[in-house]
Amino acid sequence: MTRKLFVTTALPYANAPFHVGHMMEYIQADIWVRYQRMAGHEVHFVCADDAHGAPIMIAAEKAGKTPQQFVAEIAAGRKQYLDGFHIGFDNWHSTDGPENHAFAQDIYRALRKQGLIAIRSIEQFYDPVKGMFLPDRYIKGECPKCGAKDQYGDSCEVCGAVYSPTELKNPYSTLTGATPVMKSSEHHFFQLSSQRCLEFLQDWTQTPGRLQPEVLNKIREWFATDDEGRVGLADWDISRDAPYFGIRIPDTEDKYFYVWLDAPVGYLASLKNYCDRTGRSYETLMADPSLEQIHFIGKDITYFHTLFWPAMLHFSGRRTPDKVFVHGFITVNGGEKMSKSRGTGISPLKYLELGMNAEWLRYYIAAKLNAKVEDIDFNPDDFVARVNSDRSASTSTSPAVRPASSPSASAGI
Ligand code: 2FM
Ligand code: ZN
Repeated sequence: MTRKLFVTTALPYANAPFHVGHMMEYIQADIWVRYQRMAGHEVHFVCADDAHGAPIMIAAEKAGKTPQQFVAEIAAGRKQYLDGFHIGFDNWHSTDGPENHAFAQDIYRALRKQGLIAIRSIEQFYDPVKGMFLPDRYIKGECPKCGAKDQYGDSCEVCGAVYSPTELKNPYSTLTGATPVMKSSEHHFFQLSSQRCLEFLQDWTQTPGRLQPEVLNKIREWFATDDEGRVGLADWDISRDAPYFGIRIPDTEDKYFYVWLDAPVGYLASLKNYCDRTGRSYETLMADPSLEQIHFIGKDITYFHTLFWPAMLHFSGRRTPDKVFVHGFITVNGGEKMSKSRGTGISPLKYLELGMNAEWLRYYIAAKLNAKVEDIDFNPDDFVARVNSDRSASTSTSPAVRPASSPSASAGI
């Protein structure tokens, strides 16, 4: 039987070019998609830029551009990576496209109709100079435990203490240096703590074959009973006050969806854009019970994809994902995080510019990945040895990768 597959990779933030972690995920998904196509199955493989949120709005302002101009410039640079590494997406779109505005607002209205949106006032830090509420990452101050200066609002890098931004001593806004003040505003919450959501998610996550065993274990922890004997999740704050680069919440003047509300909706928006472009019917495709919806993601965004996203879809009357494939991170030299400043990052573009063959990296990544949520390590010497030995095992020609052109730190890839 021919399978019909709607496949996505996570939507990258439109504030920077791709790094090797993105390429790893695209290569993994692309290989899987190619296999399905070769087996005769119908595949619709889409992605998009994740355009919204405060960091992009602030980066655009610093660059003297509108957020729209800023994300358009990032988007224009995507093709060289995707073509260079032979990634065969059928469509690349943006979460700022009209389809996404319409879908995100429709989903919100449906959730509201279901009685799953609550509006409550909350108090947060506000920068009186900038005139905006401050996301935690834009607040610094002295650690309430050890007094270390210039610590972020969630934890201290010196003593390891974890706290909330309101506990910081002498807090300041990293945007203007001003002392933030507490200010209250109304926020919209998706009521994930409701019994309906809990029951649905327990059932959805336990469906055999949908999630990897390690992911299920993690979810069991998230559902664990808290100190007061409550099982389940907290309500999710899905709104942000203006100024914000995002999608307006219906029936409000100055509230926008938090970027993580509209980001996964971008999967549907990109598919819709692709269908419209290619003369297909999005509605017919999505209504087909044989369609399988499959997401490839990294482990850091599991919570959004296995709890928030299926609940949003289900309670707005839509189909839910059939599978979420979660991979680990790519590290360097035996488990180190890649770092630009330490020169241990691998730039995908530099790799191509040096004339290295994309298939070598595709092969190396394919050979190292498996179905588990494990980090994979990129070791330059191992890369050279692996590609050369496996290549010469299958052909009688001389080695393909020579140390002189190897992706070592000295080559600065
Ligand atoms: O973590 C990230 O890079 C997000 N931009 C991923 C979004 S995936 C999907 F939900 F859009
Ligand atoms: Zn401290």
